[in-house]
Amino acid sequence: MSVFYIDGEYMDSKDAVLSVSDMAVLRGYGIFDFMRTYNGRPFYLKEHIQRLANSGAHVGLDLPCSQEELFDIVMETLKRNSFEESNVRIVYTGGISPDSVTPQGNGKLMVMVTEKLDLPEWWYTDGAKIITNDVERYMPEAKSTNYMNAVLSLQKAKKADAIESVYVDRDGRVLEGTTTNIFLYSGGKWVTSDKGILPGITRSVVLDLLEGEFEVELRDLSREDIKKAEEVMISASNKEIVPIIQVDELTIADGKPGEKTLKVMELFKEFTTAYGLGKTDSVKEKTAV
Ligand SMILES: Cc1ncc(COP(=O)(O)O)c(C=O)c1O
Repeated sequence: MSVFYIDGEYMDSKDAVLSVSDMAVLRGYGIFDFMRTYNGRPFYLKEHIQRLANSGAHVGLDLPCSQEELFDIVMETLKRNSFEESNVRIVYTGGISPDSVTPQGNGKLMVMVTEKLDLPEWWYTDGAKIITNDVERYMPEAKSTNYMNAVLSLQKAKKADAIESVYVDRDGRVLEGTTTNIFLYSGGKWVTSDKGILPGITRSVVLDLLEGEFEVELRDLSREDIKKAEEVMISASNKEIVPIIQVDELTIADGKPGEKTLKVMELFKEFTTAYGLGKTDSVKEKTAV
């Protein structure tokens, strides 16, 4: 059983309902953000709330409360649940509108806490395949509830025995996955795209952890860069860091997770294992949430 928050109330998830007239249902108009807990604490909650507000600014939806109030609501919702580790989803919908296209500022704010589920172990030990897909996301800096591109792209990936699909735009820029950011190790440095993407919180934590350990370059990536890459990895809140051993039909290096990727996974593990326990001095924590 999960306890959800909707619009001022905490309730059993099965009683949490939304009007069928909400613009989120009729128009796919709404924003959300997603994070998980480590040691029971939401990972970079402040940054996720800030990103949610930023998504709202992009699509013209103002949050109905302050970021500090939302922080407290998330913490309270977590307290009312009792999972060892949780996934946390914050959603703010477009609300009900007489013509179903003009927002009236009456959206529903929801915080949904569910049990964190583990992903297949082999992704991390053996590495996984991803595909590229010629798709452009509308307003990539915003995390909107319209994930049509992601749903379709992931279906395509699954058909190709891949775990993720990476968007490539009309200029041939390799941007990001449906719910991940991508890093290539090439020419002695980690390279990741910087424009036309959702600024991933995991990506930013990884960039912090890379400091002092590896050289880093933020720039546009192309399919040609993938061909030259010695290692590839993807990052996301729900996946952490996954080593990628195949992109489309191309095997990366010897088809095994590379040592640089394994090092980054180790740094990330060290950081998240200590997260929230007051022992994070050995690794960088941007914000003590
Ligand atoms: C389009 C897109 N890019 C990147 C990410 C990775 O972001 P984060 O690391 O904050 O989970 C996500 C997460 O869902 C996403 O939807």
